[in-house]
Amino acid sequence: MNFKGQHILSVNQFDRDSIQAIFDVADKMTPYALRQKRTTVLDGAILGNLFFEASTRTRVSFGTAFNLLGGEVRETTGMSSSALAKGESLFDTARVLSGYSDIITMRHPQSGSVSEFAEGSRVPVINGGDGANEHPTQALLDLYTISKEQQYHGGQIDGIHIAMIGDLKYGRTVHSLSKLLSLFKNVRFTLISPKELAMPEAILQVIRDAGHSVKVTDQLEGSVDADICYQTRIQEERFETQAEADKYRGKFRLNQTIYTKHFQSKTVIMHPLPRDSRADANELDNDLNLHPNLAIFRQADNGVLVRMALFALTLGVENLVSKYDRDVHWYSSKRL
Ligand code: CP
Repeated sequence: MNFKGQHILSVNQFDRDSIQAIFDVADKMTPYALRQKRTTVLDGAILGNLFFEASTRTRVSFGTAFNLLGGEVRETTGMSSSALAKGESLFDTARVLSGYSDIITMRHPQSGSVSEFAEGSRVPVINGGDGANEHPTQALLDLYTISKEQQYHGGQIDGIHIAMIGDLKYGRTVHSLSKLLSLFKNVRFTLISPKELAMPEAILQVIRDAGHSVKVTDQLEGSVDADICYQTRIQEERFETQAEADKYRGKFRLNQTIYTKHFQSKTVIMHPLPRDSRADANELDNDLNLHPNLAIFRQADNGVLVRMALFALTLGVENLVSKYDRDVHWYSSKRL
């Protein structure tokens, strides 16, 4: 895949070679994310970072990644503070903002909205999450994390067993990640959710068409010999009513006791975050915070590397990053 000038809208765009190309560039971004070096390869470039739905990680890590490459970030956050609230179309918004930016990242609550926006854009657009549809950069950073965690345990992505737990209907990260994992060999999926929040049939079809084994269940029971336990939050913002979402809160909790009972001592715990830490939800308990297999913060850190790689590739500077680098002089604490 030639990334230069391309939109990144869906994981359907990727094959194994293009994923490897992203991961190779992400690896090279480590000294910059660690603040051991700085680069000005994107000096003068402007990112339009448009978030029409709540976000902490994706919005800030897109901005951080662009800054770490030497570029500048212009942001708008929230629907009500944008002209979309006055009835402006996504096409017009894209046409205008692409005149102000070299690349645009966008999150929006409606499925398909980022692709619609991209049709009006004159610069590359990267999908930061569109409704319950896709979250391609999260899936890439999740897969990058799985690769690194598997390497640590002497394994690889091919042949892994992943247990996905929680809201698999509305959780866009599990949709995108399932599609990416389907590109690999002999993956086992154990999908655990309330029946009403099961993985959509279209995603199951992708998994099955690729020849992988998939078990769908509404119970976490027995011993699950998973390499990865991928926990998710009930996506309450996608339900018709709060009361409907509340029916599922706290349904599948993971804490030290449940982890020890059902998983292997080497099972890596992942979660796209945010986790809902309120007492009646608490899907991933704080008593696992210091567990060495808890990869959730490594996952979030990896988001910067992967997003730096995507910016470098789509703007065609992936081979120039080190040419424009220098040492840093300020105190830089241990990161990653
Ligand atoms: N994982 C993720 O998308 O987090 P944010 O909603 O904070 O961006």
